[in-house]
Amino acid sequence: MYPFAVVTVVVLSLVSTGGLASPLIKRASTCTVKSQRKAWENLTSAEKTAYINADVCLMAAPPAAGVPGAKNLWDELTYTHAAQSDYIHNVGAFLPFHRYYITAHATLIRSVCGYTGPLPYWNEPANVGALDGAAIFDPRVGFGGDGTGSSRCITDGPFAKTVLRIKEDLSTSNYCISRGLNDRSFNSAVQTNVNRCLAMANFVDAWNCIEAKPHSAGHGGVNGVMVNVKLSPGDPIFFLHHGYIDKLWWDWEALKLPARLTEIGGNNTAHGKNNPSFVNYFNDGGSITTLNHVLWSHNLVPNATIADVMDIGGDYVCSEFA
Ligand SMILES: *[C@@H]1O[C@H](CO)[C@@H](O)[C@H](O)[C@H]1NC(C)=O
Ligand SMILES: *[C@@H]1O[C@H](CO)[C@@H](O)[C@H](O)[C@H]1NC(C)=O
Ligand SMILES: *[C@@H]1O[C@H](CO)[C@@H](O)[C@H](O)[C@H]1NC(C)=O
Repeated sequence: MYPFAVVTVVVLSLVSTGGLASPLIKRASTCTVKSQRKAWENLTSAEKTAYINADVCLMAAPPAAGVPGAKNLWDELTYTHAAQSDYIHNVGAFLPFHRYYITAHATLIRSVCGYTGPLPYWNEPANVGALDGAAIFDPRVGFGGDGTGSSRCITDGPFAKTVLRIKEDLSTSNYCISRGLNDRSFNSAVQTNVNRCLAMANFVDAWNCIEAKPHSAGHGGVNGVMVNVKLSPGDPIFFLHHGYIDKLWWDWEALKLPARLTEIGGNNTAHGKNNPSFVNYFNDGGSITTLNHVLWSHNLVPNATIADVMDIGGDYVCSEFA
C-alpha cells in the first residue's frame, strides 16, 4: 500500500553536510502532465474527500526519513519545517522553500497515498471577516472547525483525533491540532494588501510584502498550531495556506515573464543568525540567496535548487493554476 515507505533512509543530522542514501521519492525528470492547482471551493465534494483522505493516509504512513521519535510521514514532514525554521523564514529562500515544501507534500500524497486529484489552495480574501463560515472549516467535507476549551483542540472533522508529535526543540510528545479562529488577525488577508504586493517592482520587495501581510494573516487567523512558526505544518490547512501564498508569488512572477523566472535575492539568514554549517550547505557562495541555493527536506524528496522551483510549470514543480 505504501510502496516507497519501506526504503531505508540514513538518519541525517541537520548540520551534517555528509552524504545521503537515496531519497524516499525519485526525482521526476520531465514534466508531462501538470498538476492542477485549484481553490478549495472549486473542488468537487469527492475531490475534497479524496484530498483529506490522502492527508489522513500520510498521518498513518510509516516514517521513512529516520526522524527521531517520528511515528509517521506527517511527523517527518513537520520536522523538516521545524528543523530549518530559522533559515526558511525572513530570508530570501522563504518563498522558494515553501514552494518546494508544498511540492514535497503533493509528491508524498500522490506517491505514498495514491492521490490523483487537484492541489487545493485557500482563496483567503473571500473569507475575510467571516472565518467561521469558511468552507475550509466544514466538519464533513473540510478540515474541521475551531478549537474549543482551554486546550483549543479541534473537536470535529476528520482531524479531531489527530496526534501531532514534533515539538519546537525537535523532541517529541503528543499534542492535538489546536485552533483559535481570529478574524482580526485574518483581516490583513484583504485583497488590497495582495494588490500592494503584486505591484512591487522587485523580488525582495514583493517577498517581504507577501511574507508580512497576506502570509501572516493565514497563520494568525487560524491560530493555535498554525501560528507556531516551526510547527504550523502539523495542521493540514498549512498546505492550503501556503498553496495560496505560492500562488501570490506566481501571480507576481507571471506579470513579467520570463524575466521574473530568474529574479531572486535577500539574505540567507535572519535576525543575525549565521550558522556556518547552514550557510555552506546552501551552496550560494556567500550570504546572499541565489538560484543555486539548495532546498532540503530531510531526504523525504530529493534536494532541489531555487532554480528548479522558479517556474511552477517547469520539470520540478510541474503544475498550473486551473
Ligand atoms: C542535500 O542537502 C543537504 C543539506 O544541504 C546536504 O547535506 C546533502 O548532502 C544534500 N544531498 C545531496 C544528495 O546532494
Ligand atoms: C472557480 O471556478 C469558476 C468557474 O471555473 C471560476 O470562474 C472562478 O474564478 C474559480 N474560483 C477561483 C477562486 O479560482
Ligand atoms: C540583509 O542583512 C543586512 C545586515 O543585517 C541588512 O542590512 C539588509 O537590509 C538585509 N537585506 C535584506 C534584503 O533583507
